[in-house]
Formats: sequence, structure tokens, C-alpha cells
Amino acid sequence: RKLFGVIGDPIAHSMSPLMHNDAFAQLGIDGYYQPFHVKSADLAAAVHGMKAIGVQGFNVTIPHKTAIMPLLDQIDPLAKAIGAVNTVVRENGGWTGYNTDGAGFVQGLREECGGPLEDKRVLLIGAGGAARAIYYTLASEKVNQIDIANRTLEKAASLAESCPYSVAGTVKTTQEAEAELAAYDIIIQTTSIGMLPLIEAAPLSVENIKPGAFVSDIIYNPFETKLLQEAKKQGARIQNGLKMFVYQGALAFEKWTGQTPDIERMADIVRHQLG
Ligand code: ATR
Repeated sequence: RKLFGVIGDPIAHSMSPLMHNDAFAQLGIDGYYQPFHVKSADLAAAVHGMKAIGVQGFNVTIPHKTAIMPLLDQIDPLAKAIGAVNTVVRENGGWTGYNTDGAGFVQGLREECGGPLEDKRVLLIGAGGAARAIYYTLASEKVNQIDIANRTLEKAASLAESCPYSVAGTVKTTQEAEAELAAYDIIIQTTSIGMLPLIEAAPLSVENIKPGAFVSDIIYNPFETKLLQEAKKQGARIQNGLKMFVYQGALAFEKWTGQTPDIERMADIVRHQLG
């Protein structure tokens, strides 16, 4: 039996094991995916131990996505640029790190936004780790122009400047972006602000959004953030972070097994867990 897993702290609520174990069963692969609770102080020992016991590949989640990088044997160029690894694959006896978060997001976006991304005006909200993975991946896939809006303008500017792939675009304060929102076909929300449903806050007001614009939020719990609810009221089309989560898993699964899992089944499993 081939062993896989996910390391993180905390890890108990991860939905990846259900998703991957179901895909193994569906495809008749003799594999098993186990969650491992690994504290930061034990990260190096865990990575070496996984090799020793014959684990074939694993996912990496908070807080280890960056700290794991020096412990791996090779790192894919896009993951290196992003500065975070969420998928590790045993290749030639060593560990190779990849980032499927950005690619998973972009795949889900391409599927639902309608038409080629390359023609669209894109606004990215936020400038943290999740924003970096998405911005660099979009740029690496030759999306022409991406503007960034963030509460702290300097962080947006340093994200744009640090990107190793060429992409046009400007950086904006939240207020500027709110005023110019009608210019955008696609708005991508990457901040953590919508994760607290009780606070019911959105990173910006969508009063000026273009009807028919596409708004994608990386959050899927809550299933519809305040931003998505408001955007829908204004006539926008919306997407939550479920597709991104499912696709980052599916892309990891493909790297480990060479097989493509059933995306709809994976999404149903997560939806069911969310209740
Ligand atoms: P992650 O790795 O999850 O992306 P992060 O690196 O801490 O997290 O980045 C969080 C992002 O959410 C940043 O863009 C942050 O804005 P600042 O750069 O101004 O800090 C944004 N963010 C977090 N809380 C926010 C809030 N209450 N209002 C607006 N933006 C917020």
C-alpha cells in the first residue's frame, strides 16, 4: 500500500484525508492518506521520518508551507518564487516541493469565469501569502494585467515588484479600488477578513461593481462571505474557495499517482463535511 498524508498544526479538521482516500477507492489505487499533527519544532524530524517510512508524497499546510522549503531536495521554480510549498512528491528518492494552491485557484477560475482570462481586467484584493501564490501563478500563465488593492499599499507594491514573471498593472488603496470597481471583469478576494462570519466584514464595498463581473473569494467556510453576498446583490457572478481547495488537492493527487480524480465527487465530499 502506498502511503500519503498531510502535515500541519492544527490538522484535526483537515478535509484532505476524506477527499484523497475516496479518490484512491474510486480509482482502485491501493493508497492511504493520513493526517499528521506536526509541531514546528518537529518539522525536520517529520520530513526525514516520512522518507524513512516510505511515504510517497504529502501535503503541507499551516504553519509549515515556507519552513519546509530548506528541508526538501528540489523545489519547483514557481513554488520557489511564491516562497511556499503545499505539495511534496518523492522523486528519484528525494523530496520535490510544489505549490498547487495558485494553480488550483487559477484552474477553478478559468473553469467558471467564462472566456479567456487573458482578455479580462483583473483586480486582486490582498497582498499576503495567498495573494502571492495567485498573483505569481496568474503572471506565470501570461495574464496581461493584474491590479492589486490592499489595506496597506506598500505591501501591494512590494508584491507587484517582487514578481519574477512579467505582468502589467497598478497598485491601489482600498478606497481607490472601490471608486474604480466598475472597470474590472474579475475580482479576486484573498484576505482573511471574511473568515469571521460573526464580524460580517468585507475588505471593500462593491457598490460600484460592474453587473456581470465575476467575483472569486478564496474562502469557503463560511460558504458565502459578506463580499460574495454583497456582490451577488449587485448582479455579479460569484465563486467561493471550494474549487480552489478541491483543485489544489486534485493537482497534488495527479502528481503522486499520474491519475486524475473526479473533481465533482471531491467537491461533494467537502460540501457534505461543511454541512
Ligand atoms: P495569508 O497568508 O492568509 O494571505 P497574510 O499574509 O497575513 O495571510 O495576509 C493577510 C492579508 O489580509 C493582507 O493583505 C492583509 O492586509 P494588510 O497587508 O494591510 O495587513 C489582509 N487583511 C487582514 N485583515 C484585514 C482587515 N481587517 N482589513 C483589511 N485587510 C485585512
